[in-house]
Amino acid sequence: MTHDPARRDFVRAGAALALGAATLPAIPRPSRAPLAGPGEPFRAPPLERVRVGLVGVGGMGTVHLENLLALEGVELRAVGDIRPEHAERASAKVVAAGQPAPALYTRGPRDFERMCAEAELDLVYTATPWEWHVPVMLAALRHGKHAATEVPAAMTVEDCWAIVEAAEKYQRHCVMMENCNYDRFELMALQLVRQGLLGEVLHGEAAYLHDLRAIKFAADGEGLWRRAWSVTHNGNLYPTHGLGPVANCMDINRGDRFLRVTSMSSPSRGLQRWREEHLAADDPRQRERYALGDQNVSLIQTAKGRTIYLAHNTNNPRPYSRLQLLQGTKGIVSGWPYRVHIEGRSPGHNWEAADDYYREFDHPLWRSERIQKMDRGHGGMDFLEDYRLIECLRRGEPTDMNVYDAAALSAMVELSVRSVARKGRPEEVPDFTRGGWQRWAPWAIVGE
Ligand SMILES: NC(=O)c1ccc[n+]([C@@H]2O[C@H](COP(=O)([O-])OP(=O)(O)OC[C@H]3O[C@@H](n4cnc5c(N)ncnc54)[C@H](O)[C@@H]3O)[C@@H](O)[C@H]2O)c1
Repeated sequence: MTHDPARRDFVRAGAALALGAATLPAIPRPSRAPLAGPGEPFRAPPLERVRVGLVGVGGMGTVHLENLLALEGVELRAVGDIRPEHAERASAKVVAAGQPAPALYTRGPRDFERMCAEAELDLVYTATPWEWHVPVMLAALRHGKHAATEVPAAMTVEDCWAIVEAAEKYQRHCVMMENCNYDRFELMALQLVRQGLLGEVLHGEAAYLHDLRAIKFAADGEGLWRRAWSVTHNGNLYPTHGLGPVANCMDINRGDRFLRVTSMSSPSRGLQRWREEHLAADDPRQRERYALGDQNVSLIQTAKGRTIYLAHNTNNPRPYSRLQLLQGTKGIVSGWPYRVHIEGRSPGHNWEAADDYYREFDHPLWRSERIQKMDRGHGGMDFLEDYRLIECLRRGEPTDMNVYDAAALSAMVELSVRSVARKGRPEEVPDFTRGGWQRWAPWAIVGE
């Protein structure tokens, strides 16, 4: 699929993980003594202007570029991409927005290292394929820049530890940009939880159920890299969209934490069927062998004994869903379609449409004029996540999500793969906070 040697190494490593997980030793833990973690959420000195370098300006990188150019106080100083035409396209947008042309870094897959070393930047933001997130963030942190990444932040537990340790060592933010945390229903659910309408939250259901068959076989964009993971990995490749908002409602890393996970996968059929129907008989992709079971289901238990059902399916025909269910002692919310039932408030045992609740419980971010004007990128949530990141950096506040969240959510990739390979055996989730979760205050309900 690619002639890039770094990619070949990655595919080999991925194959080892996927195919050999049954015999893999225990998950490696850092041998050195833990670095002192911040006792409260990390904050960095405020920045009047945030000088940004963006690495990977394909589909999602372009969305972030346009958001960042629409925000006050952002200077888009550098752009990197292995495809010079993508970098040029981004540069034209920067110039059209009235900023000087950014420095371009297009000399191959590791040119982000040169960007991180020489460009005067406050933040390096990566929207590259999954295998590049951690190398870009580590280079950024090493050179004293804050780092932000698309999801998942990392694909292995070892890489989750690597970003935690680097963020602590270099005292910089390292943020996974989980846009679904900012969707309207998810933020309203958080309001309902915080205002006690659901009672004690006992159970959550989260998923990424998205028919990506055509995208995985596309000749451009994600078709160039995403399918490779279906060859090497059998587990949940994309856990964070559904799990992020559920984790917020359960105060994960801020009073509770993921303790263990068990995972199983169905047979692998969808990609094979799709290519038979859509590709020529002599297309080389007909010979690929897919490890990824179409439906992957995981069960997570938290330290407080709560349960979470987490699913992943990108290989079968179906409408999109992230489930987004929260069961509390006093009520339940559920997504897709968005519904609420609150004891004593909802009629009988019936659902009410979430629309009826927005009037009273809409999150302040969704009430603001800003969002009304900025209906772009997945209905506005992408803009809100970029807005919040930049605001936190400019105000010198803790970011909404921090490196421990990036690690805890992303670790589900490898942990699910390992559990699947071991016939559903539970895997312990490392405590990336090293006990900090017991001291840290719940995620604030962020305001304007
Ligand atoms: N949050 C969301 O809703 C959402 C939606 C889509 C994609 N994503 C995430 O965004 C990331 C990118 O996905 P996409 O759909 O934009 O993919 P894409 O293939 O459209 O874009 C990736 C870009 O990165 C470039 N690139 C690849 N390797 C590089 C390297 N080593 N250095 C510099 N540039 C490199 C490619 O040339 C391309 O321009 C992925 O992590 C994906 O999971 C998130």
